Amino acid sequence: MSIRRHQQIDHKGFQQFGLEHLAMINPVASEVSVSSPQPVAIPLTRAAIFLVMTIKPGAGNRTAIRSFCADLSALVRSVGFRELEGSLSCVIGFGSEAWDHVFGQPRPAELHKFHEIRAGKRHAVSTPGDMLFHIRAQRMDLCFELATRIMARLGAAVSPADEVHGFRFFDSRDLIGFVDGTENPKGQEAIDATIIGGEDPKFVGGSYVIVQKYLHDLAGWNKLPTEKQEHIVGRTKLTDVELDDSVKPTYAHNALTKIVEDGKEIKILRDNMPFGHAGQGEFGTYFIGYSRSPRTMEQMLHNMFVGKPPGNYDRLLDFSRAVTGNLFFVPSATFLENVQSD
Ligand code: HEM
Repeated sequence: MSIRRHQQIDHKGFQQFGLEHLAMINPVASEVSVSSPQPVAIPLTRAAIFLVMTIKPGAGNRTAIRSFCADLSALVRSVGFRELEGSLSCVIGFGSEAWDHVFGQPRPAELHKFHEIRAGKRHAVSTPGDMLFHIRAQRMDLCFELATRIMARLGAAVSPADEVHGFRFFDSRDLIGFVDGTENPKGQEAIDATIIGGEDPKFVGGSYVIVQKYLHDLAGWNKLPTEKQEHIVGRTKLTDVELDDSVKPTYAHNALTKIVEDGKEIKILRDNMPFGHAGQGEFGTYFIGYSRSPRTMEQMLHNMFVGKPPGNYDRLLDFSRAVTGNLFFVPSATFLENVQSD
């Protein structure tokens, strides 16, 4: 469904829907166009597939991807309509080099390759990835069917770089046993945290997303006393209550990832998912964070890996290793619908 609108309308009309920062006013024609975002700021689901792909070289592949962009929403509709309560959705993002190759100019103001970080034994790796598909639903069969349809369309033009099937674990816990996602912004706050407004006028309705696949040394982690684990995360394990500042260490995960600018906290939206292979002893957390600027998440990563101050790093990283790392730009749904084959 195309939600692009060009109408004589005053700005207050958008305020009433909480969309004022998505309405760009052309002062000459008093024309307003609305860029509808992709389904970024949506409630958490029970299942997800994270599909990262590289694009094979060749002009034909570029054309295949461009023609796919406008068709993605129809593909999601045709799979999703088969189970109305499944809440199937898909967000697509593009890496920096892929953006230049597929779309050229103009380019999103803050899109660049994921910056790797090395500090002591800690390493936030930067790995190949031109496109991300973040597929979410209440059931894995819906996610799997959509991933299959996407690959059937794009298969010849792309190579898979990584595919992770994530599941919700008990009370939204990660595999290290802590509730994950509690402090996420909700409703309008989530939209304000993730969706680009007037700061990049050509890309209103877009968003940035960082993904990192972490593997845990669960045996090592489980040897720690619960109190020590709680100090590392900054919350109680059973009841998920934030530790009081008088006992919370400055290296706690939720202290290092709290970003305050000009007295205001800058939030991101996370939808981390556990994944693993019990038989192979693989236990992981797939980190995914959306934000209207990558700088916020880069600051968090710097605080976690290098430390704040340097050396005061995130002890979760003594038990968790990042094996992938990518930054993608998520264009608005309106942008995708308007992409022509060539
Ligand atoms: C091994 C990977 C990770 C695990 C297991 C993990 C786990 C957690 C847990 C258990 C919480 C507390 C509950 C909550 O508010 O959600 C949390 C909070 C948070 N995490 Fe992570 N996280 C990981 C990686 C990251 C990364 C890479 C970032 C940022 C780049 C990040 C950003 C945040 C933020 C912003 C909060 C909320 C802090 C607050 O305002 O209280 N996390 N994480």
